[in-house]
Amino acid sequence: MNIADLRNLAHRYAPPFVMEHVEGGADDEVTLVRNRSAFERITFRPLTLQGAQHRDLSTTLLGKTVCLPIVIAPMALNGLLRHNGDILLAKAAERHGIPFTLATLATTPIEDVAAQAGGNLWFQLYNIKREYWAALALRAKVAGCSTLVLTTDAPIYGNREWAARHYNGVAELKFRSRAALWRHLRWLHDVMVRHGQPRFAHLDELLASRDSRVLKSARFVSAQLDPTMVWEDVKRLRELWRGPLVLKGILTASDALQALQVGIDAVVISNHGGRQLDGTPSPMEVLGEIAGVVGRRLTILIDSGFRRGTDVVKALAMGAQGVMIGRAALYGLIAGGEAGAVKALDIFKREIEVAMTLLGIPTIGAIGPEAIHQQ
Ligand SMILES: Cc1cc2nc3c(=O)[nH]c(=O)nc-3n(C[C@H](O)[C@H](O)[C@H](O)COP(=O)(O)O)c2cc1C
Repeated sequence: MNIADLRNLAHRYAPPFVMEHVEGGADDEVTLVRNRSAFERITFRPLTLQGAQHRDLSTTLLGKTVCLPIVIAPMALNGLLRHNGDILLAKAAERHGIPFTLATLATTPIEDVAAQAGGNLWFQLYNIKREYWAALALRAKVAGCSTLVLTTDAPIYGNREWAARHYNGVAELKFRSRAALWRHLRWLHDVMVRHGQPRFAHLDELLASRDSRVLKSARFVSAQLDPTMVWEDVKRLRELWRGPLVLKGILTASDALQALQVGIDAVVISNHGGRQLDGTPSPMEVLGEIAGVVGRRLTILIDSGFRRGTDVVKALAMGAQGVMIGRAALYGLIAGGEAGAVKALDIFKREIEVAMTLLGIPTIGAIGPEAIHQQ
């Protein structure tokens, strides 16, 4: 019926250490919780008697028509959730006519995703060794990616204590986590045994002689994030990448203005799903301010905590042009592979349609600030 149902099914398939990788936040997870509660402080102002018969959910994002105002967010290690998780998600996105973002830390090479799923592909760049950027960006371009997304809110990984609870010093599963696998034998078979443990797909040079299997190298890879990235690097990337360039992880109007000044096309207002700095506001709490400063001059995307179609409509009403969904898509993927991911998107589509009809709004472009109250 809804994303919460998909989440319940996901917990049956994948073992606890995988679900904590998906669901966990940083520190005390205050921001994680806030990402959901922020939506409750926004209420709708529906207009009745609007003759609401036909709804059009399509819109334009960064020069391309999309069938829903949604993008699948970049997420590392999707292949640890389902075999070929990236391809399944990308196929689901293609079926719904929306972009899919492949992560630098993905387990499927961009070329395979492009060949097997196609569609509107975006590629996310992490601040792992600047000297790899040009090669990765070129790889994404050659594979046919339309858009490059640079993540800016992860100079290092946030304090994710759940990860430490499952892995020991040599980055292998602790016994307790291994013992729980008996209740998830299908996952064990499908993801780890039948095809072998998934590997990082874009880090050949970085891992060189190391073991590239994700459980063996996850800790090493997370320690390779380079905290020295600055705006000058973004300028260089701008010169390198001619297509749409997006900065993901912006939470202040001053950063959004700076992005505009260096020629960025879009920002994703995001706190990384509460996985980085605990204590940041929900992106919904800063969206109005940022849209007030750079709206119309910069495409504004937003993510973190979106689980309902009404959440998406609220963000559009406050000035976003599109929403990235993270865990909501993963719950579908884990619960039912490609069909489950398609289902997650069906749910968003239906819920957005219902909300627009009840609000008396026929098109995405017509969703504006008059549709909501903020408390
Ligand atoms: C399992 C998982 C892995 C993620 N990996 C990345 C990543 O590699 N790069 C990145 O920019 N963001 C990453 N994110 C953050 C998402 O792109 C997105 O910002 C976040 O999930 C949105 O919040 P939501 O999950 O509540 O929708 C990850 C999120 C999750 C849940």
